[in-house]
Amino acid sequence: MKPKIFITRQIPEDILAMLQETCEVKLWSEADVPVPRDVLEQEIRDVEGLYCLLTESIDDSLLAQAKNLRIVSNMAVGYNNINVEAATRRKILVTNTPGVLTETTADLTFALLMMTARRMEEASQFLRQGQWKTWSPMLLAGQDVYGATIGIIGMGRIGEAVAKRAKGFDMKIIYHNRTRKFEIEERLGAQYRTFEELLEESDFVCILTPSTPETQNLIGKTELERMKPTAILINTARGGIVNEDDLYSALMDQKIYAAGLDVFSEEPLSPQHPLLTLANCVALPHIGSATVKTRREMARLAAVNLVTFLQGKTPPHCVNP
Ligand code: DGY
Repeated sequence: MKPKIFITRQIPEDILAMLQETCEVKLWSEADVPVPRDVLEQEIRDVEGLYCLLTESIDDSLLAQAKNLRIVSNMAVGYNNINVEAATRRKILVTNTPGVLTETTADLTFALLMMTARRMEEASQFLRQGQWKTWSPMLLAGQDVYGATIGIIGMGRIGEAVAKRAKGFDMKIIYHNRTRKFEIEERLGAQYRTFEELLEESDFVCILTPSTPETQNLIGKTELERMKPTAILINTARGGIVNEDDLYSALMDQKIYAAGLDVFSEEPLSPQHPLLTLANCVALPHIGSATVKTRREMARLAAVNLVTFLQGKTPPHCVNP
């Protein structure tokens, strides 16, 4: 008998077919609508495997209803949507999709950095709204990227990929991480700083650290006040790491120059959110890994993790031991 699994969103046809070869698959097939909680609670009751996205909260109360569940395969590298401790306690394996989205997310991080520094969204609106009357010496003048100091908080895979791009722009690379990365220091010329030093010295502060209880509100009023008034904050990691109320005030009061955000504490971000009223805030709808190739790779890797485990082998990317 094939093991039963539930998939919480439409995934590419060929990857679905691969799962159907070895599993009895049920799928929430409404395009781009997250599975309602009551449906998820119903479906999870008798499946052995769950294939889910970061939009689903896999908490203890949900896991308590999943009597046969053995694996939760998250189609994301981040897994803050899953209570891993509760899953471990219930002997449920959690897997994720690291590696395949590193370069794509680093590209978007750097694009957001450039877009914010050079005021590209503002400039594009200016042109579209018919405000462009003449070339003017200081019109829409922004900040230089080339030669500036980039401060990377979280020197993991994506942090390193951003540092590689920064090296190409002759930037001074400083970083803060739980552990020193001597090999990266050597190869990319990155220099370690304390958290406070990094905030004070950086022209660009890039947040690339995972979302954990320790990193919640890592950047708030005090940290924003430590940054240079010309500094730009980029967050492509997870929303709760930056306190959005404090960021709004800092941007309003020009305590920092600008912010580029791809992630928010509540997603989707309301179109009425105060941050969206600010010209010095560029906001994107969590598209860090959104290229066709990378999203396919993530979908495939999530399927491989699931199938490998249900076939009795060790999946490539386990989060819990
Ligand atoms: C992840 O995989 O955690 C990303 O945020 C999705 O792009």
